[in-house]
Amino acid sequence: MEDNMILKIDGITKLFPGVCALDEVSFEIRRGTVHALIGENGAGKSTLIKILAGIYTPEKGRLVLNGEEKHFARPSDARAAGISVVHQEIKLAETLTVAENIFLGQLLYTRMGLVNWKEMYRIAGEMIENLGMDIPVDMPVERLTVAKKQIVEICKAINMDSKILIMDEPSATLTEKELKVLFEIVRKLRSEGYTIIYISHRLDEIFDLADAVTILRDGKHIRTMPITEVTREKLINLMVGREMGNEYPKEINPIGETILEVSHLSTRNLLKDISLSVKKGEVLGISGLVGAGRTELARAILGIDRIENGEILYKGKKVHWNTFRKAIDNGVGLVPEDRKIQGLVQIFSVKENICMVAADKVIQKGLVSNKKKEQYGRAYIDMLNIAVPGTDTEVQYLSGGNQQKVVIAKWLMQDSELLFLDEPTRGIDVGAKVEIYKLINDLVKKGKTIIMISSEMPELLGMCDRIVVMHEGRKMGELSREEASQEKIMAMCV
Ligand SMILES: Nc1ncnc2c1ncn2[C@@H]1O[C@H](COP(=O)(O)OP(=O)(O)OP(=O)(O)O)[C@@H](O)[C@H]1O
Ligand SMILES: [Mg+2]
Repeated sequence: MEDNMILKIDGITKLFPGVCALDEVSFEIRRGTVHALIGENGAGKSTLIKILAGIYTPEKGRLVLNGEEKHFARPSDARAAGISVVHQEIKLAETLTVAENIFLGQLLYTRMGLVNWKEMYRIAGEMIENLGMDIPVDMPVERLTVAKKQIVEICKAINMDSKILIMDEPSATLTEKELKVLFEIVRKLRSEGYTIIYISHRLDEIFDLADAVTILRDGKHIRTMPITEVTREKLINLMVGREMGNEYPKEINPIGETILEVSHLSTRNLLKDISLSVKKGEVLGISGLVGAGRTELARAILGIDRIENGEILYKGKKVHWNTFRKAIDNGVGLVPEDRKIQGLVQIFSVKENICMVAADKVIQKGLVSNKKKEQYGRAYIDMLNIAVPGTDTEVQYLSGGNQQKVVIAKWLMQDSELLFLDEPTRGIDVGAKVEIYKLINDLVKKGKTIIMISSEMPELLGMCDRIVVMHEGRKMGELSREEASQEKIMAMCV
C-alpha cells in the first residue's frame, strides 16, 4: 500500500440469505480525497459502507487502515479507528438538542466531575460556525430540516475525531441550495485533510466533487479510477454493464379530453390561486425549487390537505375529496416523495407492501388470497426489476432504491387513472430510471394520465408533454414540450 493510501479494502465478501451482497471487493482510497462509490440499486454500496462502519462483519477479507489491519466487531470499533458515517437514513436522537447530539456518547466533564454543558455548547457552536452554518445549538434536532440534520451528523463525526467521513446518498433529500452548501462543506473538509467516501446516483455530483470513483455491480468491484479518466457515458456503461441507449425514451401519444381542472386553488399556508388542467394521456411536469409548493399542490388536490379556496373538476364533475381515500377510490393515486415515512411498512414483506393499496384485488370469495398476493408481488418484482431474493423478504432488507421501486409498484397495482409521481426517480439508479420512464410511456399509452413532480430538470424536459413551473406557492407559467428549456424554467423560478 502506498503511503498516501488511507484505506485498503481487501477481498471483502458479505453474504445475506440468498444474496452475495459483496463478492471479494478490493480497492484503495487515497488520503484527503473525495472518493465516489457508485453502482445500481442493490450493487452493494450501503453494505460496504456498513462494513466500514462496523455494523456488519464480512465473511471474508480485511480492511487495512493507515497500514494497519483492522477488524471491526461493532460500530464503536470503527468510530474509534476514525471512520464515521452519515447514513442514508439519518440516525440522530430527535428530541435532544444539536449540541447534545454532537457530544452524544462523549460528554465533556468539568474538573469537579460534572457534565460541562457550557463548554459543549460553546464548542458545538464553534463547529457549526466553522462550517459556515447558522444552526442554533440548543434547538432539538427534530425541528431541523434534513439538510441541517446532516450537518449535525457531520459535526458529530468531526467531534469524534474521524478521519474518514462516509456519506451515503446525502444529496437525495436536499434542495439545490442546500446541496451547494453541502458541497462547500465537503470541499472544505477535503482541504482540511479529511477523506470522504461519497455515494450518489447523481453523476453530475460525482463529476463535480469526486477525485476518484469506484464502480460496483452485483456485489463485484468493477473499476476504480481517477474521475478525470472517465466520461459520463463510460460510467453509466460500467454501472449497468451494457450499452444504455437513450436516457429519456419519451414517446409522443395522442392526448384526450381534460381529466382534471383546477381553478384558483389556495391553501392557508402556501398555495395561492393556482389554476391548471391536465388531459387524458398527458404527462404533465411540475417544476420548481424545493419549497415551491409542488408536493403541497398534489396534497391539496388529493384531499390530504385542506383547501381554502378554489375548485377542482375531475372528469368534468366538481369534486370535494376531503380524504385521500376518496381520491384513491375515484382512481387518483400518488407515489409520495418521502417514501420512508409515507410509503412502506419496513417489517412487512415485499408482497404485503405491494398489495397494500389495491387490497381489494387480492380478495377472492371474501377472503384475502395469499396466492393472489404472491402473483401480484412476483409480477411487479419482475416488471420493475426489484432486486430481492423473494416475495416474502421484509422490505427493511432491501437496498434504498429497491424500496422505492416497491412503493411505485403498490401504486401501479392500484391502476390509477391519474397518478401523481412525486420525485419518482430519486435515489434510483440510471438503469432503473429508464425502466420507470418506459413504464410512464406504457401507462399513458393505456390512456392513464401522469403528473410528475421533479427537481431533475433533464427528466422533466425529457419525459413531459407540458411543464408547469411553480415558485413560492404560485404558478409562474407553463411551457409546452417544444418550447421548454432549462433556462426558461429557471427564469420562471425567480
Ligand atoms: N440486512 C440485509 N439482509 C438481507 N439482504 C440484505 C441486507 N442488506 C442488504 N441486503 C441485500 O444486499 C444487496 C446489496 O444491498 P445494498 O443496500 O448494499 O445496495 P446499494 O448499492 O446500497 O443500493 P441502493 O442504491 O439501492 O441504495 C441487495 O440485494 C440487498 O437486498
Ligand atoms: Mg444504499
